Amino acid sequence: MILKPNQRSQIMPLPVVLLSTISQDGVRNAAPWSCVTPVLRPLDEVLIASWLKRDTLENIRQTGEFVINVPRAGMEDAVMTCAKSFPPEVDELKEAGLVARPSVKVKPPGIEGCLAWAECTVEEEIAREKYVLIVGRVVHLEADDRFFSPENGMDFEKAMPLCIMGSNKGMQFVRPTATGEKGGYAHHP
Ligand SMILES: Cc1cc2nc3c(=O)[nH]c(=O)nc-3n(C[C@H](O)[C@H](O)[C@H](O)COP(=O)(O)O)c2cc1C
Repeated sequence: MILKPNQRSQIMPLPVVLLSTISQDGVRNAAPWSCVTPVLRPLDEVLIASWLKRDTLENIRQTGEFVINVPRAGMEDAVMTCAKSFPPEVDELKEAGLVARPSVKVKPPGIEGCLAWAECTVEEEIAREKYVLIVGRVVHLEADDRFFSPENGMDFEKAMPLCIMGSNKGMQFVRPTATGEKGGYAHHP
């Protein structure tokens, strides 16, 4: 089957994270984000893509900081509440019934109940005509001890990180499951 080029988000699961930010006046914001990726495995940079009309982008521009929160399956309702377009002066954590979690290195709080938190500062903004790419640096990274061990990494069957698959009829939430095979790949330059 041949698909339209813009259906590319329907051929692979994308992560769902909540980006938490604050405005320069301290208003808290949270928004679901899927266009977010680590940049090359050994580095500590991330890349996010944002449409221009986003309070998240405005806050990131004002403060140079954001937190990537990884929500768990079961948090879909709160995630979708954050996807509504509230005016910038609305505290979206409150609207979504989310509890703030103090960050260690940045001002925007993280979100309780998520399984991991990456506190980031902005390295570079790449402006395109209709959207912006933000290169961020992870300055503090933490995961819930219940789901992460230094030997085995994330127990994702237990942690249940959220992903989405797009479709013409909208998106559906999915989550990863183990294939039983181990990669054993550790090489990087
Ligand atoms: C699962 C999901 C993923 C999303 N990913 C993005 C994204 O990668 N980039 C983006 O600009 N908007 C994305 N959005 C849309 C924003 O979350 C939505 O417009 C939100 O209201 C923005 O809030 P804000 O104006 O408070 O920043 C996504 C929405 C959902 C539900």
